[in-house]
Amino acid sequence: MFPKTNLYRKRKLYRTPGLCEQQLRCRFSSLPSPPPPGTWSQLHRLPHRDLYRLSVTDPDRFWGSAAVDRLRWMRPFHQVRDCDFSSGKINWFVGGKINVSVNCLDVHAENHPDRVALIWERDEPGTEVKVTYRELLETTCRLANTLKSHEIKKGDRVAIYMPVSPIAVAAMLACARIGAVHTMVFAGFSSEALAAKIQDAQCKAVITCNQGVRGGRLIHLKSTVDAAVRSCTSIQHIFVSQRTEQPVVMGELDVPLDEMMSQHASVCPPEPLDSEDSLFLLYTSGSTGKPKGIVHTQAGYLLYTSMTHQYVFDYRDGDVFGCVADVGWITGHSYVVYGPLCNGATTVLFESTPVYPDPGRYWEMVERLRINQFYSTPTALRLLLKYDDCWVKKYDRSSLRTLGSVGEPINHEAWHWFHSVVGEGRCPLVDTWWQTETGGICIAPHPLEEGAPIIPAMAMRPFFGIQPVLMGEKGETLTGDSVSGALCISQPWPGMARSIYGDHQRFIDAYFKVYHGYYFTGDGAHRSEDGYYQITGRMDDVINVSGHRLGTAEIEDALDEHPAVPETAVIGIPHDIKGEVPFAFVVLKEDVGDDPTAILQHLRGLVANKITKYAVPEHFLVVKRLPKTRSGKIMRRILRKVVLETTNDLGDVSTLDDPSVVKEIVETYDLKK
Ligand code: WTA
Repeated sequence: MFPKTNLYRKRKLYRTPGLCEQQLRCRFSSLPSPPPPGTWSQLHRLPHRDLYRLSVTDPDRFWGSAAVDRLRWMRPFHQVRDCDFSSGKINWFVGGKINVSVNCLDVHAENHPDRVALIWERDEPGTEVKVTYRELLETTCRLANTLKSHEIKKGDRVAIYMPVSPIAVAAMLACARIGAVHTMVFAGFSSEALAAKIQDAQCKAVITCNQGVRGGRLIHLKSTVDAAVRSCTSIQHIFVSQRTEQPVVMGELDVPLDEMMSQHASVCPPEPLDSEDSLFLLYTSGSTGKPKGIVHTQAGYLLYTSMTHQYVFDYRDGDVFGCVADVGWITGHSYVVYGPLCNGATTVLFESTPVYPDPGRYWEMVERLRINQFYSTPTALRLLLKYDDCWVKKYDRSSLRTLGSVGEPINHEAWHWFHSVVGEGRCPLVDTWWQTETGGICIAPHPLEEGAPIIPAMAMRPFFGIQPVLMGEKGETLTGDSVSGALCISQPWPGMARSIYGDHQRFIDAYFKVYHGYYFTGDGAHRSEDGYYQITGRMDDVINVSGHRLGTAEIEDALDEHPAVPETAVIGIPHDIKGEVPFAFVVLKEDVGDDPTAILQHLRGLVANKITKYAVPEHFLVVKRLPKTRSGKIMRRILRKVVLETTNDLGDVSTLDDPSVVKEIVETYDLKK
């Protein structure tokens, strides 16, 4: 328990030389001293091994002191945490009032207003735009005032459907400034997918652009929003920014964003928010068809993303941080926007693709922007390594210090190429494991124990405060090393999700019931003989296409809409570049004739329209029936074995309703091959 003192005022004093020690001692008078010392400014000097130990043995002291020292509070918290996994209760920094935008903007605009906050690496190389902390604060305030003047207030949900751009970042931070809850929807999602999210979150407004530009192509965002909003009664305003010159027809709900912003003041008082007020929702895929709106809150999320950003990537003051993720994904939220900005970094917003205008794009950008940390995905690396190394080598990469990978297991070939060709063997490469639900990186080789190695293609070590546990098939905790099981986390950490929007019971059922009292990640993992973690992949019906999560049930839902299709089963199968791709088994009505080509074409369109293009199955197989258990559940495991041609080892099929179905599907598959 922290004493109820005015920590915010004290934190300002800590910064004054000479007062720190004294203030700290009185602040932590109830704690043993020394050793170990009690405040973050002292604690962070401990060797990483000791810091980790402290973070799991005394999380209150570890996270409490970090939160006091690293964040600016409007009112101090009085309790570090109040959590109970079995009831899904997760509260951090109880009683505190904070504003995330103040920590990401005002703090830095006061100290170094002219430092570049954002480098917008636009689609066309060499046309980057730099935005300083002062400018970003002003833009954010203008946008916040525009939202306020349209009656958007604390607690309202606002959808953001925008390409990677400073205005998208300002929109996120403007919501944070006034306490509105943003829900970013990746600007590649279809109108139906966007509508489903707006409806679930009951958003009051959408912020969008007229068009997006990616890989030299125009994407008509506003017309997608218009189509989505037709079925969304909650939407009162559509704010439209102009990314291109192309005018759009403005309807009744539309507000010209850039014009309105120019009429509003560049100062907006920040709303004091509870540590546990929602900051954003982000929809992700689970094992049922209904996407879930993962809820993240203020202080804990910000502290966790800023600390992981600093420690995992060895971020140092003044570095240029290059995470090439889209802001519509959690990686963009945590490591393009919130983590880097909280640390006062210069963060790169990458609008383009890795191969536009050629496969040298990333490395030409690294040279031009002098990027220090480069964070990408295995799927992009697998694509790039197929080209000649000269695309990398012709650019100066000497600014690079840390390389990172996220999204799916990284294979050895991609790891070694990234490490030795891109990083010239001199930059540590961190494979970072985490999820939308975890808020930030949970397992990564950094921070290193002094002198310890990085093992290729392995996430390795838990971050501060993370206690991984592996579970066996019977739900038992697997102790010792050289074991594989379901990856769980036994203790809460500040960055973790707090709920599923509108369905807390689903949150409890999905994450805390499977292994009672533990957070279940949905992933399998192996603990090596040295005690390091290797992620082996999803254990549920979630697949990972180019690092994007998709529920097989979501794709099936879209396919099943076709009147000639009574049922389908989708599985993920390995793919060289994308990691996995969807494979659909389709049962057709008997009266549809012999040639299913037209139907399959229609099915492709259905998935692209309902979800997005990358969800469209790469393979279809028309079958008479699907393998099911006696209780009617589709056994996708068997379908996977058919495609991988491992049906000689089917495992336990005692629950299979009619075993002859396996032979039937194998024959159909062999014929089609
Ligand atoms: C997978 C992305 C292996 C994993 C940040 C997880 C990984 C899911 C890794 C979350 C990694 C992410 N190694 N697998 N380094 N990083 N994953 O919510 O299956 O889009 O559960 O968050 O991606 O995907 P999400």
